[in-house]
Amino acid sequence: MQLIAGHVESLMPLDVSVPASGQHSTPLHANAREFVAALGRMGLLSAGEVPAITPLTGGVSSDIVRANLRSGPICIKRALPKLKVTADWQAPVERNRWEVQWMATAGAIAPDAVPRILGEDRDSGMFAMQFLEEHDYPVWKFQLRDGIIDPAFASEVGRTLALIHAHTADNGAVAQQFATDHIFFPIRLEPYLNATARAHPDLAASLEELVRITGSTKLALVHGDVSPKNILSGPRGPVFLDAECAWYGDPAFDLAFCLNHMLLKCLWRPQWSSRYLECFDRLRSSYLAGVTWELPAQTESRTTRLLPGLFLARVDGKSPVEYVSADWQRAAVRDLATQLLLRPVTNLAEIKQAWQRKADTFASMHG
Ligand SMILES: Nc1ncnc2c1ncn2[C@@H]1O[C@H](COP(=O)(O)OP(=O)(O)O)[C@@H](O)[C@H]1O
Ligand SMILES: [Mg+2]
Repeated sequence: MQLIAGHVESLMPLDVSVPASGQHSTPLHANAREFVAALGRMGLLSAGEVPAITPLTGGVSSDIVRANLRSGPICIKRALPKLKVTADWQAPVERNRWEVQWMATAGAIAPDAVPRILGEDRDSGMFAMQFLEEHDYPVWKFQLRDGIIDPAFASEVGRTLALIHAHTADNGAVAQQFATDHIFFPIRLEPYLNATARAHPDLAASLEELVRITGSTKLALVHGDVSPKNILSGPRGPVFLDAECAWYGDPAFDLAFCLNHMLLKCLWRPQWSSRYLECFDRLRSSYLAGVTWELPAQTESRTTRLLPGLFLARVDGKSPVEYVSADWQRAAVRDLATQLLLRPVTNLAEIKQAWQRKADTFASMHG
């Protein structure tokens, strides 16, 4: 999941690395021992094997580690009961189970778009997956930050997302499997939209309506956290990580969530705004070209309504973006979001154009 970085506590006392040979002179830390025990239960260890366990950075809702098995490295993820952020954001650890199921479902549709799942240990809330080396699978967020801004990649993200939505649309069994309102509401709709409604009484009616519409639209399997931080840029296209908000619901949520990041990146690196907005366009058009479950204009219409709500939420909700902290940045977001929430436009191109006009002004002042 993606949450505020400034509030992240250090990643547990997990900085224990023991030799892959299994002979270690210092005792394994309790936490690392738990990962090794889970690997054993998952049947992933050979006789007597005690792999080195090293923590990975970047996660806030989980402990995520690398285990160096004799057969090569793998990744283990364990959901935390309380996210490593401010106090009042809790989420059931069982959400891990749906993350694994999302990976399996999406993997059957687009095998290259997810890490291979290697094992699951539900009792401890852990699962193991293929380890994707950073060198071959850079995080899209960091590429965008560093000026590696590839509209063709954004287009692939949109195409793949729509493919997963199209193949799960109108599917009663998948809907039943991912009946996760009890997770999606507290982990997505409440902290983003309801929290923002509390901060903006004048916009509350509009934001609460978004919660009602999104929460009651059940069309396809939603990932729930399609952020560049959770997308790796692999040799065979995008790889989606972190599906613990998986939910059978409104696919417009995933599209709006990802498009939102293309808007926000303009505040991070104003000088590259037009390139981020080209990614916005390519993501939008490739996604909409893959909409089969309703008229693309219907998906676009809900996305157009939702996007300003999610945009404002990244400033005034429970999960503000770490690189949007200056007064001018927040003012720009509040200004456009307020305008769009009070006087909705009809399509995504209009949102892009409105933001482009603003971006041109702050690029000259802050770029
Ligand atoms: N299979 C993997 N291989 C390599 N690195 C991974 C893998 N899964 C996750 N990571 C790294 O760990 C980070 C956090 O993982 P993520 O699933 O997004 O956890 P969280 O829910 O805590 O955000 C990712 O941004 C990525 O850098
Ligand atoms: Mg994540």
